Amino acid sequence: MNVKTAYQAWSDQYDSNENKTRDLEAIALRSVLSSIDFHKVLEFGCGTGKNTVWLETKADQITAVDFSEAMIAKAAEKIKSANTKFIIADINKPWDFTHEKYDLITYSLVLEHIQDLDAVFSRCELVTNDQAYIYVGELHPFKQYAGSKARYMTESGEQVVTCFTHHISEFVQAANKYGFQLHLLEEWFDNNDKTQIPRILTLLFQKNLTNSI
Ligand SMILES: C[S@@+](CC[C@H](N)C(=O)[O-])C[C@H]1O[C@@H](n2cnc3c(N)ncnc32)[C@H](O)[C@@H]1O
Repeated sequence: MNVKTAYQAWSDQYDSNENKTRDLEAIALRSVLSSIDFHKVLEFGCGTGKNTVWLETKADQITAVDFSEAMIAKAAEKIKSANTKFIIADINKPWDFTHEKYDLITYSLVLEHIQDLDAVFSRCELVTNDQAYIYVGELHPFKQYAGSKARYMTESGEQVVTCFTHHISEFVQAANKYGFQLHLLEEWFDNNDKTQIPRILTLLFQKNLTNSI
């Protein structure tokens, strides 16, 4: 199903459905980003604001972007502070909604819906300060190899959202190409059970990092 159409329809139940991927990624993002400092954040695919509510406790300014008006409306119901600005825009189109520079860009469960990683990372280079971070939290590719995709139920049956599988090497190579090096890679397991396939992959890149992994 077309990505925007899918999220427009999913928005009503996105927060209330059982969704282990959504919930574990929330834990992962908070853990990965709690130890770094950031002031200006560009959050892509903010959805219903699951992570925006936490980011705004740490950041001075957040620009939260999503192309689904319905998802962003849910986020705006939760977040009233003046330091968070919501923008409706498509990541795949030129980022003409901002001319600022950020010190953290986040993608939570978004890049699986974006085919061209090079285009994304090349634009990140233009809107970030020196030493800026990019956080990526994704459904682990191992899960994708086994057939997992973003999906939800409706009265007319199961809806499966269009997804692209990106191998870990593709994320790292695209980031490297535009000046971001890997700072931290972590894998997150249901119930912390490491005998199972990990559910979530997190990657933290830093711009112009000299001692990268
Ligand atoms: C799985 S939801 C994740 C929402 C939130 N980040 C979270 O972790 O709960 C993916 C979000 O990415 C947005 N999205 C997908 N493709 C996009 C694109 N090309 N441009 C902007 N937003 C996009 C969807 O509308 C949706 O809100």
